[in-house]
Amino acid sequence: MQYEPKTFQIPTLDGISQKSVDEHLGLYQGYVKNFNTIAAKLVEYAADTEKNAHALSELIRRKSFEFDGMRLHELYFEQFEGGAHAINPDSALSEAFKKEYHEYFEPYFRAIANMRGPGWAILYYDPQCKQFQAGFAGEQHQGHFVSLPVILALDVWEHAFLLDYGAQGKGKYVEAFFKNLNWSVIEKRFAAASA
Ligand SMILES: [Fe+2]
Repeated sequence: MQYEPKTFQIPTLDGISQKSVDEHLGLYQGYVKNFNTIAAKLVEYAADTEKNAHALSELIRRKSFEFDGMRLHELYFEQFEGGAHAINPDSALSEAFKKEYHEYFEPYFRAIANMRGPGWAILYYDPQCKQFQAGFAGEQHQGHFVSLPVILALDVWEHAFLLDYGAQGKGKYVEAFFKNLNWSVIEKRFAAASA
């Protein structure tokens, strides 16, 4: 089965230019295309694993890289749909933040996002222990909490901010991200993960 790139209803963002969004969407579509190409090649290689052992082992590693790039970008772009929306102070998400982070969730998460290196600041929720796990996935395949659902995904690869803010502009981009974030999307993900 071939994956199709999704389309997103992204409004005009404050502090993240349309050109940057368009280029970023192009990169996302590249992940989908690469994943499809690799998946098809692997079907061919599976017919003779001995002959194709080397190529197969390389592509198997690349496959999840492309897949995670695809899915994380989908989670990322969806967070802008519907426009900026503040967190509801009475929501279950707000209550859970207060319990675990007091007032410090956002500065804590921003600090993770501002770590050096390309990757993703990701907030997960562990329904088993009823607690959040905030982490940093280097590129998009190192440091995942692989079994936990993603609640919030913040892309901090350079391509997300270079055009608008330059190589040292990650902090300004992270501010813009939060300014444009539709928290109701995050509240829905939390409700689904904690149900
Ligand atoms: Fe990206």
